[in-house]
Amino acid sequence: MVNIYSEDEITKIKESGHITYMCHQHLKDLLKPGVTTKEIDDEAGAFIRSMGGVPSCLGYEGFPANICISINDEVVHGIASSRRLKEGDIVTLDICTLYKGYHSDSAWTYAVGKINKEKEHLMHHTEKALYTGLKEIRAGVPLGNVSARIQQYAEKHGLGVVRELAGHGVGHNLHEDPDVLNYGKYGTGLVLKSGMVLAIEPMLTAGKRYVELLDDDWTIVTQDGSPSAHYEHTVVVRENGFEILTGE
Ligand code: MF3
Ligand code: CO
Repeated sequence: MVNIYSEDEITKIKESGHITYMCHQHLKDLLKPGVTTKEIDDEAGAFIRSMGGVPSCLGYEGFPANICISINDEVVHGIASSRRLKEGDIVTLDICTLYKGYHSDSAWTYAVGKINKEKEHLMHHTEKALYTGLKEIRAGVPLGNVSARIQQYAEKHGLGVVRELAGHGVGHNLHEDPDVLNYGKYGTGLVLKSGMVLAIEPMLTAGKRYVELLDDDWTIVTQDGSPSAHYEHTVVVRENGFEILTGE
């Protein structure tokens, strides 16, 4: 079942999303060579709680950290540790907040110092793939149009579309219906309605699209070791478009 949210509820998801956004702004200055991912994760937990929220990832199906921190070939669900960031890494922070009973979800990939051309290309076009998908969103449009646009954009720029992971509805729960695939066909799928709240999140690779699960049972990495990027916003469907809920 796909939830339709009232304006009151959307306001609360937006407040939650603002905390998620502010947490990104707060953490991105910390992403320097030498910092450990545990230090970043601790700071994320403290920041979200200082704003009156709860980090929704912590304890989600047993996930052991406040946020997901994924480096280079790690696609999603990286777990904080004593690992230190180094010059040339790219690091994705995937941050979820629960506030006043509502979840928000946003991921962003950041460069640590100077990165190579391959990573620059990957980051630039993964962020663009997100906005290309978002532009399709308005009431009456089938969800397949969003998926198809993301896939088309990614493949046009030589990037792999990870198929095992998808965007999703979000609000009362961190993951709700529908799944929002990053590949698909125009004119197919659920017809969007005003008040649906979706996390749109292309996860792209600079190499092949295949992924595997590490022994920690959480971290998903590319099979070929190529770097991966991930940009995600929580948005609400409107009659004539969409509104970003994980922004300023
Ligand atoms: N933003 C992540 C997702 O949509 C949330 C992961 S929470 C975790 O998959 F606990 F699974 F890490
Ligand atoms: Co998500």
